[in-house]
Amino acid sequence: MTHTITVIRGDGIGPEIMAATLHVLDQMNLGLRYEEADAGLVAMEKHGELLPQATLDSIAKNKVALKSPLTTPVGEGFSSINVQLRRHFDLYANVRPAKSFPNTQSRFASGVDLITVRENTEGAYSGEGQQVSEDGEVATLVQKITHRGSERIVRYAFELARKTGRKKVTVVHKANILKSTSGLFLKTAREVAAQYPDIEVNEMIVDNTCMQLVMRPEQFDVIVTTNLFGDIISDLCAGLVGGLGLAPGANIGENAAIFEAVHGSAPDIAGKGVANPCALLLGAAQMLDHLAMPQEAERLRKAIVATLEARDQLTPDLGGTGSTMSFAGAIASRL
Ligand code: NAI
Ligand code: MG
Repeated sequence: MTHTITVIRGDGIGPEIMAATLHVLDQMNLGLRYEEADAGLVAMEKHGELLPQATLDSIAKNKVALKSPLTTPVGEGFSSINVQLRRHFDLYANVRPAKSFPNTQSRFASGVDLITVRENTEGAYSGEGQQVSEDGEVATLVQKITHRGSERIVRYAFELARKTGRKKVTVVHKANILKSTSGLFLKTAREVAAQYPDIEVNEMIVDNTCMQLVMRPEQFDVIVTTNLFGDIISDLCAGLVGGLGLAPGANIGENAAIFEAVHGSAPDIAGKGVANPCALLLGAAQMLDHLAMPQEAERLRKAIVATLEARDQLTPDLGGTGSTMSFAGAIASRL
């Protein structure tokens, strides 16, 4: 079956890692077609807006996008393009796998294999109701959690566990202190968990979770949590297994899904051809899972692991002297 995906090359190192990623995907003969669309600074220069309607239309039509990082200009009036995309398509599930890789500078070269499922639309992170009093003394925001929002993200986590043969879901919360909001999330999670007797469930308070992740990350399988906690925990998990150059993320909704690297546009190394393409490649692997090509996704992940094991053409962030394209070539040769 042929799939058309929207490809957003993005800013900074974006075009470089996307070229590398598409090079590898092309070697796999998956019958993918690409529809190019602009977003970010490059879209501002070409079309006078950061997120053109044509880009939204392309994603709405194809339902799947592979996206490089975007630079959101600093300053008043520019809200994050990534947040806009999540909101526009109601991409409520942010799915971030963290798995040990060989030959990275990480603390855990083995034993970590977990997925963080983060609610992506509500809670403190959504920025709702942000206000500072006129005298600058008092700042407030609204932390809104809904039953519907909690229900669908926890269900997503359990369904994901089932589909991928994972055994345990850890519900991360702070219901002991945030009794209303985190309390509603936890209560809803218990309701959903009761419908999945085949999956083990446990509950963990967020601060303890952070300690446990650093001390004994192998105890985790799937983590599900609210927006802000998920933002922090998933970066912590990326740090356990080798850092930003190896951390992919998916933003998934009912009608669209966007796959990306977790890192940003890395202006400090843009244009030098040394950016690590692995995070976006692993995002592409998540995309293949989503497109019901799990064997192809595994084939891609195995080629990445084999290349790391061989230390073949690794980029400087992994201690090598390879380039973005030579690293991609080494991965493609192991498919
Ligand atoms: P960053 O992730 O771009 O860079 C942080 C550090 O990690 C830099 O030293 C960079 O060189 C390094 N790095 C990142 N990706 C790498 C890769 N693939 N290979 C090797 N080294 C890599 O974060 P920063 O500097 O905070 O943000 C830069 C810009 O990116 C900002 O405009 C920010 O808004 C944007 N951004 C966009 C995101 C997205 O579109 N998903 C996510 C995060 C930031
Ligand atoms: Mg983050």
